[in-house]
Amino acid sequence: MARFCAADACGGPGVRVWQYAPVSILITNIGELVTNAGDNRAQAEAGSRATGRGDPAAARADGPPGPGSYTAFQDAALVLDAGVVAWTGPASGAPAADEVVDAAGRAVLPGFVDSHAHLVFAGERGAEFAARMAGLPYSAGGIRSTVAATRGATDAELLGNLRRLAAEMLGQGSTTFECKSGYGLTVADEARGVRLAAQVTPEVTYLGAHVVPPEFDGDAGSYVDLVCGPMLQACAPHSRWIDVFCERGAFGADEAAAVLAAGRTAGLLPRIHANQLGTGPGVQLAVAADAASADHCTFLTDADVDALASSATVATLLPGVEFSTRQPYPDARRLLEAGATVAIATDCNPGSCFTSSMALCVALAVREMRMTTQEAVWAATAGGARALRRSDVGHLGLGARADLVMLDAPSHAYLAYRPGVPLVAAVWQGGKIVAGQA
Ligand code: NIG
Ligand code: FE
Repeated sequence: MARFCAADACGGPGVRVWQYAPVSILITNIGELVTNAGDNRAQAEAGSRATGRGDPAAARADGPPGPGSYTAFQDAALVLDAGVVAWTGPASGAPAADEVVDAAGRAVLPGFVDSHAHLVFAGERGAEFAARMAGLPYSAGGIRSTVAATRGATDAELLGNLRRLAAEMLGQGSTTFECKSGYGLTVADEARGVRLAAQVTPEVTYLGAHVVPPEFDGDAGSYVDLVCGPMLQACAPHSRWIDVFCERGAFGADEAAAVLAAGRTAGLLPRIHANQLGTGPGVQLAVAADAASADHCTFLTDADVDALASSATVATLLPGVEFSTRQPYPDARRLLEAGATVAIATDCNPGSCFTSSMALCVALAVREMRMTTQEAVWAATAGGARALRRSDVGHLGLGARADLVMLDAPSHAYLAYRPGVPLVAAVWQGGKIVAGQA
């Protein structure tokens, strides 16, 4: 992916060292190119025409416009340059580039944006899953067993597990992912969680308010004070987001509101686990706090749907959780028809859903939540970007980060049409191949 040149030839005087120079890459003969550039496409094309093959530097100066509506076209090509998308258009009109990749009719999509995952943990809960499949219900209480295992693990063990899961996600096409703490629940263990998470992603979420740990049984108020005080101070420097599990068995409306307000004062942006196990105040609280996302949204009242539809808060649906807990799936059609923005994420965690596969979640969204294949792919890419308030990922418009997935399939629909089949042929992140082979 790099062209090397001697310093003399590159203009450097005397000393012969090898220097890195970026290389442009043309991916052509794309059977279907999903850009999600939607309304932004005209702007992207204007940029491409104006510069001959796009001007990534200029695009970066203004910043990419962010994901637009679902957009895909056939027989397409795109050019990656300096780590961003520099041109998209018909293969017949593709400009020259330093390197050419022949997609041979395969589909290219924006990298998946997995906006909800809990990857800092030790241990596993396979027996709990098996018991659920034999009839026991899921409850928030299982979190405590992972807390005990996590507290007992070394930094190296936690980081090893985290890196393994991060690589698993990348290999399946998730080029951006969020990662929460929440299995430490002491100042030192939560601070360690966010510090380790920051080694694998910039989208780190402080979730000290996951459940009340056993040592605070009967004194949840004191635990909330800790979460909003010393624990927050220790975690804020390593985090971008603050989250709270607002649910029966976890935290109530007043406690959740206090956590989010404290986080905002410390410079963190809010997101909420809301309405997973029953109706409750979580969604309304998310909208009132201008949270980037209300996650789960499994049990919603009409007022909740209206509130989401008239806000900038994304409804992030996690169908892997319903698959793994045998709950009813969220009503995605009701949200979409009301005009809410819907994202899909994995919620990868050892308890309620231990999958890292966005492809599985797309298939579940299509089959079980009645989303169209286009809606599901948009929700897993652009929707995730909206849920993380990111304009540079989740789409392949001009200036977007060159994060993309090539499928071993001719169209995006195969993600649901061939469920369970490993279809990711190659993954690019920042313009470089990081998994598979083109
Ligand atoms: O998103 N709901 C809260 N937290 C996780 C589950 C965590 C666990 O069971 O360990 C979730 O489903
Ligand atoms: Fe979660």
